[in-house]
Amino acid sequence: MTKVPAPDCDLHEQVHIINDAATGARGMIAIHSTSLGPAAGGCRLWHYDSVQSLEVDALRLARAMSYKNALAGLPFGGGQAVLQRPLRDFDRRSLLRVFGEAVESLGGQYVTAPDVGTSLDDMNAVRTVTKYVAGLNALPGKAGGDPAPWTALGVFEAMTLAARFALGCDLEGLIVAVQGTGGVGSNLCRRLAAAGAKLVIADMDSRRTEVLALNLGARVVSIDEIAKVDCDIFSPCALGGTLNQQTIHSLKAHLVCGAANNQLANPTDGDALLARGITYAPDYLINAGGIINLAAEYRGETTRQAKDRVKRIATRLETVLIQAATEGTSPAAVADQMARQIIRETHRAAA
Ligand code: NAI
Repeated sequence: MTKVPAPDCDLHEQVHIINDAATGARGMIAIHSTSLGPAAGGCRLWHYDSVQSLEVDALRLARAMSYKNALAGLPFGGGQAVLQRPLRDFDRRSLLRVFGEAVESLGGQYVTAPDVGTSLDDMNAVRTVTKYVAGLNALPGKAGGDPAPWTALGVFEAMTLAARFALGCDLEGLIVAVQGTGGVGSNLCRRLAAAGAKLVIADMDSRRTEVLALNLGARVVSIDEIAKVDCDIFSPCALGGTLNQQTIHSLKAHLVCGAANNQLANPTDGDALLARGITYAPDYLINAGGIINLAAEYRGETTRQAKDRVKRIATRLETVLIQAATEGTSPAAVADQMARQIIRETHRAAA
């Protein structure tokens, strides 16, 4: 029997650079792994200070997508597109066309979807040049459409489970600090308010927090305060890297459970949370609702099939939290280990 080398989960399979002077389209498509299937992951359109920070973001997000898809039981590998958002006015359609052509040139090895800074309309524009895209308008009864409410549903169910596990109670009466009230954060806030949680919120865009303060009675604090406020649960729903040496030190929460990708600035930050007695619900495990719905859309499945899979997120989180508690390790380390194992075993079985 030929021995098949396991894929190195720290290395990316492919990286594709996008650089089009005519439209100003600049960015990267990173394919971390295709062991489980085509690499699936969103397209982020964001302003980065440097090429290096764009590249680091693309590579980290692509790997997180591999782990996320593996733990969600999806037949997809992990990839991510990141585009530099021009500072001046730009022709959005032309930029997305160039991006779509780059996706098409990969022949289905990468399937794109909306992410921070891109929308369903954008994906419909991308669809004019490639079929390797999800996050389009949903057909009746079929999965599809905006992934954000699905992500929020998965995070909400995971938070309900994690609160019982770590705090020994339901969400009613608990104070939840939500950082970022965009598509996912605002939907999550509505679910939390309906469950009787008290909300403290912050966003760079004050119009977003004002609406939630008015409709849900949420208390608004500044973006510098949100990670330090007195609360039971901290829910990062903005961008990544918000859990670092400084913020972990000043967190008052006993549980961290949010939608943002790559919340830990460094892998060791999972241990820092553990050392402070703070339970961490691994980001890519609990924010898989959106990609589950997108994958179902891409495969022509129904809303019901997508919902059933999203409901399994909390069960998987429970398995991770129990194993972490038994071994005395961080849930982040347990989730990484599980995801890598799935990728390696599937790779071996297919070879
Ligand atoms: P969004 O772009 O709709 O919302 C993000 C919000 O965060 C915006 O309102 C923005 O003003 C705010 N924000 C940015 N920096 C901030 C800061 N320092 N402090 C407070 N607020 C800040 O994005 P969306 O879709 O809600 O996603 C949120 C996070 O969840 C992102 O990290 C995304 O990668 C992740 N995620 C989203 C999924 C989805 O289905 N949309 C799926 C999985 C992960």
